[in-house]
Amino acid sequence: MHKNKFTIAILLGMSSLALGCNGSAEQSKPTLKAPEQLTLKAQFKEHFKIGTAISRDQILGALPEDLNVAKAQFNTFTPENSMKWERIHPELETYDFEAADALVQYAQENNQELVGHTLVWHSQTPDWVFEDEQGEPLTRDALLMRMQNHINAVAGRYKNRIFAWDVVNEALNEDGTLRESKWSTIIGDDFIEYAFKYAKQAAPNAKLYYNDYNLYKPEKRAGAIALIKNLQSKGIEIDGIGMQAHYSLDNPELSLMEDSIVAYAATGIDVMITELDISVLPFPEGEEQGADISLDIALQERFNPYPNGLPSEVNTQLGERYKAVFDILKKHDDKVSRVTFWGISDARTWRNDWPMQGRTDYPLLIDRELKLKSFVSDL
Ligand code: G3I
Repeated sequence: MHKNKFTIAILLGMSSLALGCNGSAEQSKPTLKAPEQLTLKAQFKEHFKIGTAISRDQILGALPEDLNVAKAQFNTFTPENSMKWERIHPELETYDFEAADALVQYAQENNQELVGHTLVWHSQTPDWVFEDEQGEPLTRDALLMRMQNHINAVAGRYKNRIFAWDVVNEALNEDGTLRESKWSTIIGDDFIEYAFKYAKQAAPNAKLYYNDYNLYKPEKRAGAIALIKNLQSKGIEIDGIGMQAHYSLDNPELSLMEDSIVAYAATGIDVMITELDISVLPFPEGEEQGADISLDIALQERFNPYPNGLPSEVNTQLGERYKAVFDILKKHDDKVSRVTFWGISDARTWRNDWPMQGRTDYPLLIDRELKLKSFVSDL
């Protein structure tokens, strides 16, 4: 039994015993921890690390309450956007390390692990990266050199200060084939191998991960396993796979998530849940759930049913869904080393704006008042 639950059960038992003996409700008041006294990192301490994504606004001090909650609740951090290419390296000769430096320092001061996100991605990468001075596509060699320079500058800067890197992000299609991108078109499918090699050279002590969404899907799982095995067969270090886990109340079927965890672990690398959130909002029919950020549908009120608060029965469903997810993660805590939520609280989560901007979603374990949700103690 989980330690917290064990403690709670004992305390409950003692309190009912006390009530039975002297009938005094006052004396029998259980010394249960109120939800606000629990912390996520303590609750899951025996199972895995518990993390959150931190935004530029949060780390640069505009939202100190969020940062206090992050420090209290989580023991590993990921920058939500600050280390993406377009943010940290917006122009050829321009790097902007302000938010990234602040986050590295914050993680160090609080003795917490920082996971860099992300070095090579088809998205959020400026067009100039792929072009020469005349705006013509770079050659394979020139793009490889640009990739290497970027990885040296960014991963090299934080060598020994960043625990791990999402080296390549979202390189697979839903059917498990390699996504066509400027990286794959100009360099070829081996751009992934080069990204991992360059990351190893730049930050030899960092763990190196592949990160993607919908990795529960059997076809995508097969593609990811092929990707991992290809690197392994060539002696290129890959230490882990990040399953993003942008879920909803009815998607995915959790047995698929479990099958994927088992299958990825069998390749010998770490498995992490890297961007967990569970949307309670209806998803437009016919669209692919996941995290394809190019999806941007006009706001329709029928898809935004809870702008003024979440009905308690839906909150209960969310709690049950989270419990089902965490039951599987705890069952496989020998394989799962980290569970990171994609955001601190419901007040600031990308899910309020995807796939439609301006909705009110409730996907995290911390509510808009920065309080842990009532069901957290059951997880
Ligand atoms: O900061 C600007 C603001 O100044 C401007 O007024 C506003 C206008 O649109 O945009 C703001 O930037 C937005 C930024 O989020 C901060 O809110 C960008 O437009 C928006 O594209 C960006 O979205 C991020 C998205 O990745 C794309 O980078 C989300 O915050 C972030 O949560 C999301 O994270 C991704 C992971 O990196 C990879 N996996 C999927 C996950 C969810 O899409």
